[in-house]
Amino acid sequence: MLLSSIRNDFPVLFRTINGNRLVYLDNAASTLKPKPIIEKISDFYLKHYSNVHRAVHTLSSESTEMMEESRNILASFLNAKKEEIIFTSGTTMSINLIVESLIRNCFLKENDVVLISAVEHHANFVPWVRLSKFHGFNVEFVKPSGRLGTLEEQDFLKFKELKPKVVSITGHSNVTGQEINIEYIKSIFPEAILIVDGAQLIPHKKIDVKKLNVDFLVFSGHKMLGPTGVGVLYGKEKYLEVMEPFLYGGEMIDRVSFSDVTFNDIPYKFEAGTPNIAGIVGFGKTIKYLENIGFIEIKNHIYDLTFYALEKLKEIDGLEIYGPLDERHLGIISFNLDGVHPHDLAHLLDEKFGVAVRSGHHCAQPLMGILKNESKLSVFPNGTCRVSFYVYNTNEDIDILVEGIKKIKEWFNVQ
Ligand SMILES: Cc1ncc(COP(=O)(O)O)c(C=O)c1O
Repeated sequence: MLLSSIRNDFPVLFRTINGNRLVYLDNAASTLKPKPIIEKISDFYLKHYSNVHRAVHTLSSESTEMMEESRNILASFLNAKKEEIIFTSGTTMSINLIVESLIRNCFLKENDVVLISAVEHHANFVPWVRLSKFHGFNVEFVKPSGRLGTLEEQDFLKFKELKPKVVSITGHSNVTGQEINIEYIKSIFPEAILIVDGAQLIPHKKIDVKKLNVDFLVFSGHKMLGPTGVGVLYGKEKYLEVMEPFLYGGEMIDRVSFSDVTFNDIPYKFEAGTPNIAGIVGFGKTIKYLENIGFIEIKNHIYDLTFYALEKLKEIDGLEIYGPLDERHLGIISFNLDGVHPHDLAHLLDEKFGVAVRSGHHCAQPLMGILKNESKLSVFPNGTCRVSFYVYNTNEDIDILVEGIKKIKEWFNVQ
């Protein structure tokens, strides 16, 4: 168990919310930030800050060095080359960059097939669907045939014959909490360009990109204790070298004339404009902080919390839990209490018990439609309540959540 020494790094955990101690269970949306990471960012601004890559003066050199040190940390974290680590503003920007650049380079052409799943976050859904309308490629959707939104391996097999050019898939659903078997997907689509949305995966899983042999892996700092506005796009060098940049402007050029432009080397050719320098510096520190805890320990802790919570939630009559109820379920639990709208539940949990949870469609509207069809609730509210755990959560947090839900159920007089 990770417990109290870690909690001391998060002063906000000792706040009271509406007279109760804060129970923060909205980690899938964004995690809290520990003191060492805040201090690193603050120290950077107070003692070193300047723009990067552009000047010869000391502060600029120090800032550049600190930013590039973060790139080294991220590269070694993923077992990638430094040139393969592009800093973006987050997962959404990374996916938009990949889609647009693949199109501009004609990797993706009219009538090509792109395979995504129906459980994707909109960040890995909307860019494909919208841009297919302008560029004529076809988007196919793997629909979950398993328990309430659960993707089964055979659901992917059906698409083998279609020979998708691109497979873009979440590594971990932000709604059902299901961890997806990326090795299996790679094995059935060996020829496809494989893009993994790691926004919910990387916070608890250290991935060796070479071993997994993914072509692109994207994730966000703010979902793993790091700052907002910074994310990583890992791409295989062989693609990045030839891909057209998505954004044009400063820092990504080599030579500019009245008639044309040549680009900087990778990764810089994909980093137009002034980056989130302090965020990137903080992201490097974030990886070190998490590695110091240990990714195995983090995953085990989240597993323990998930199964403790699942067991307790299952005992509440009228509570419908989505996704698998086995070891594929990790860190995120979505549910509905029959007869209580998820917004009401979330609101009362905060107001009466100090418990922060998320309610709504979780940027996964297509999945909500599927859950609605399969739900046994009297009325499916087109959304769910979602709790999600991270390093500082405890069994006691879950006890407070469960007691809160039981009380709210009584107040609503739900049978
Ligand atoms: C699975 C998944 N993909 C993508 C995103 C988008 O991440 P960001 O808002 O950091 O760009 C999220 C955020 O919730 C997510 O859960």
